[in-house]
Amino acid sequence: MNVCDEKNKKAVLITGCSSGIGYSVAKELAKRGGYRVFATARQQKDVDRLNAEGLESLRLDLADSNSIQFAVTELLERTGGKLFALFNNGAYGQPGAVEDLSREVLREQFEINLLGTHELTCLVLPVMRAQGEGRIIQNSSVLGLITLKFRGAYNASKFALEGLTDTLRMELKGSGIMVSLIEPGPITSRFRANAFAAFQKNIDSENSPHQQLYHSVEKRLASEEGEAPFTLGPEAVLKRVIHALESEHPKARYYVTFPTYLFAFLRRILPVGLLDRILIRTSGFENR
Ligand SMILES: NC(=O)c1ccc[n+]([C@@H]2O[C@H](COP(=O)([O-])OP(=O)(O)OC[C@H]3O[C@@H](n4cnc5c(N)ncnc54)[C@H](OP(=O)(O)O)[C@@H]3O)[C@@H](O)[C@H]2O)c1
Repeated sequence: MNVCDEKNKKAVLITGCSSGIGYSVAKELAKRGGYRVFATARQQKDVDRLNAEGLESLRLDLADSNSIQFAVTELLERTGGKLFALFNNGAYGQPGAVEDLSREVLREQFEINLLGTHELTCLVLPVMRAQGEGRIIQNSSVLGLITLKFRGAYNASKFALEGLTDTLRMELKGSGIMVSLIEPGPITSRFRANAFAAFQKNIDSENSPHQQLYHSVEKRLASEEGEAPFTLGPEAVLKRVIHALESEHPKARYYVTFPTYLFAFLRRILPVGLLDRILIRTSGFENR
């Protein structure tokens, strides 16, 4: 590795690179040239694997402030104090009906999807302010725009991320730091498998008033095949990330997949009652 070349590249920090969107975006950005990608992961075994694959990887667990601090300090040491962009991607989905979510389970969802991401963002902002430029890219979701049954915890975390991000974008106007939200619909990844594990670990399905319906939820989460309609590969997200990194005028929101465009439109034009009916049907269709 030529040290001078590495210094001229724009450093990009990505969270949640063990699989799915984070892994794909990290690999493809590193190949694209011009970027020094820090592909972070929660577990050391994934950090070792990513390093072995030739990616520059650090451990970063969004649930652990020390790990966030350590990763940022190490990155800045390696880059001479520079960081061009942060792609806040790491997150998970906690399925379960709202009334079956304990305070701890809901807190854990927020710890990772919102608070860890927020802490990391606040740590890197002074660096970007000193540079007079930077990009913050938030991986939100179509479920940050509309809600579906049994997704309350995840919905709430992504709605909160949307709110915080919209505010941050306004507060950073004129600073040279641009903030964008990516709104993926269904994308091929380990999201469903990880959500199934969270469901099994945290939801007492046998003692729930939703017990019957949970059988269908479990069937959907456990199924290896049968992706949701209109599912795209992670490269669809990559395209938006590249625009958010490289455009002089990055968008506030990037929609990915047909359902996201559709629901983003419907939520603007439909009265709540009618939108609810459509979303209840969609939830039912998902969990047949
Ligand atoms: N796939 C979709 O359909 C879809 C749709 C809309 C939005 N999204 C969003 O896309 C992003 C990436 O998800 P994905 O679809 O690529 O799913 P994925 O394959 O499950 O990847 C999620 C990543 O987040 C990481 N993560 C979980 N907890 C973490 C923590 N405490 N600290 C740091 N990283 C953590 C996971 O690491 P471990 O392997 O260690 O758990 C994994 O690397 C998420 O923000 C998700 O909400 C996905």
